[in-house]
Amino acid sequence: MMQNEIQLKPEEDDYSDISLRPMDVDDIDDFMVWATDDKVSQYCSWSTYTSKEQAMNYMTNIVAPHPWLRAICLKNRVIGSISVTPFQGNDACRGELGYVLASKYWGKGIATRAVKMVASVIFVEWPHLERLEALVDVANVGSQRVLMKAGFEREGVLRKYRILKGRTRDMVIFSLLSSEVTQS
Ligand SMILES: CC(C)(COP(=O)(O)OP(=O)(O)OC[C@H]1O[C@@H](n2cnc3c(N)ncnc32)[C@H](O)[C@@H]1OP(=O)(O)O)[C@@H](O)C(=O)NCCC(=O)NCCS
Repeated sequence: MMQNEIQLKPEEDDYSDISLRPMDVDDIDDFMVWATDDKVSQYCSWSTYTSKEQAMNYMTNIVAPHPWLRAICLKNRVIGSISVTPFQGNDACRGELGYVLASKYWGKGIATRAVKMVASVIFVEWPHLERLEALVDVANVGSQRVLMKAGFEREGVLRKYRILKGRTRDMVIFSLLSSEVTQS
């Protein structure tokens, strides 16, 4: 090995092999890793899961019929999820982005990479979509940083906008427009 050359430990420290794929009930054990973690649910609308039965209901009632929900995989291992929920009727021009990652993998650029991947495909898959938006708790600094790094515009703060875990929260709203995404 050359002097000053940094060698990666095998199987560790390489977080570049990120892919997205549909999630299903076979992923329930991986799902439970982040769903049962209070650190993960802190700024989310859902409460920390306490049973596999709850997870099964989520898989059946939310994941299976969801129009666009993907597992985030690191080397084909499911470590999180990301979704775009379309609005209907007069709001059909926009969709809401959401994402979650097991805490063990935070701070390695994985969510940013996943958001960029979604942005590069969603406007192609859904040509009617003109705006991808995300609402983030003002205290969720890491998530705001993800969106900024992925090229979203911070539009402002929606005051007393959402009740999360019994507390009314100010939310930061971000958006990315189809016209701002260059397709390769
Ligand atoms: C938010 C979340 C998806 C971020 O995933 P991630 O893979 O760690 O994100 P990235 O590594 O791509 O980027 C995180 C950035 O935020 C920064 N960050 C994280 N926590 C921070 C904090 N408390 N203060 C300042 N910066 C912070 C990181 O340093 C990094 O920025 P950098 O690359 O400039 O150093 C992950 O923390 C998570 O799953 N949280 C729980 C669920 C959640 O909040 N989802 C979003 C709901 S809107």
